[in-house]
Amino acid sequence: DSADKGEFRHYMLKEIYEQPKVIKATMEGRITDRRVLEQALGTGANELLADVRHVQIIACGTSYHAGMVARYWIEELAGIACSVEVASEYRYRKHVIQPDTLFLCISQSGETADTLAALRQAKQAGFRAALAICNVPGSSLVRESDLVIMTHAGPEIGVASTKAFTTQLVSLLIFTLALARHNGLSEEREADIVTALHQLPGQIDDALALDGKIAELSRAFIDKNHSLFLGRGAMYPVAMEGALKLKEISYIHAEAYPAGELKHGPLALVDSEMPVVTVAPNNELLEKLKSNLEEVRARGGELFVFADGDAELKEQPGIHVMQIPGVHSITAPIVYTLPLQLLSYHVAVLKGTDVDQPRNLAKSVTVE
Ligand code: G6P
Repeated sequence: DSADKGEFRHYMLKEIYEQPKVIKATMEGRITDRRVLEQALGTGANELLADVRHVQIIACGTSYHAGMVARYWIEELAGIACSVEVASEYRYRKHVIQPDTLFLCISQSGETADTLAALRQAKQAGFRAALAICNVPGSSLVRESDLVIMTHAGPEIGVASTKAFTTQLVSLLIFTLALARHNGLSEEREADIVTALHQLPGQIDDALALDGKIAELSRAFIDKNHSLFLGRGAMYPVAMEGALKLKEISYIHAEAYPAGELKHGPLALVDSEMPVVTVAPNNELLEKLKSNLEEVRARGGELFVFADGDAELKEQPGIHVMQIPGVHSITAPIVYTLPLQLLSYHVAVLKGTDVDQPRNLAKSVTVE
């Protein structure tokens, strides 16, 4: 029962632990063992997807970070241009709409004022169609969109979004595969990624098993005022989401940077008072990331590295390494979100903040 915390101290922790289950529910009836089902996005969706040449994603907060991950997937797997923008910016500027652009809103609540306003504008503006990814059936966003993919996260009570984010990502990956099929994605590649989707609940359990170690490490943050989160590629928005979680519930200033930009500014801030959290991507970018990490180490920054696969990063003084082996590079952003959720949770608990109801924030921002 979603209104009951059960054995958990906070809704947020309960919702973090629900992720293997709700991710399974979000995939159910949408994929076979090798393919995305034709009917996964509802009737008429396939004909529409065949026409789509561009995707414009609009969202706020955590949902915006899900959209940023999706852009990497859509451009890599479907070869379709994708733009992502926060709704409050998009709605107040002039924009150029390419022919056959799909307008895609992502929202947990389906009631965020800026996102709804952007959708209402878009409907007058000549988009091919509007697709919503949403967690609340019957919400304004669902009612006003042409196509809908429901996330089956169940009610989310904690203000800091956790399970809604990872189910948005799963929905966006399924959408990307359905779109990519019209744009040259091979059956083998689709089967490979669908297999990776099926592995998610087990891998998320592996990530949850790091909980004890993360709780230990979180002590290093409680007397800090600032922190830096680094990632590259699709792990950059994961770093942004990790930083947002820490800000929201622990009130520690957290800034996310694409690791390659470190030398263009934030390196000046790094010293022993600045913990640096890194989500390490696939091997291709890993070597570059390693040299970024050395730059941080050389300035006395303490590093917390969540590493994908065979990262060959060794635990040493000042460098804490946590690995979840065997994660597919496409689904890695989903799995690597989990340890960052746990980190912010534990820091907030140690700091004694109101984890489920952080100060000044609302679960759903229905007025501008
Ligand atoms: C608020 C919430 C965030 C959420 C954002 C967008 O700021 O505190 O957790 O990500 O709104 O909400 P939505 O319901 O549109 O995803």
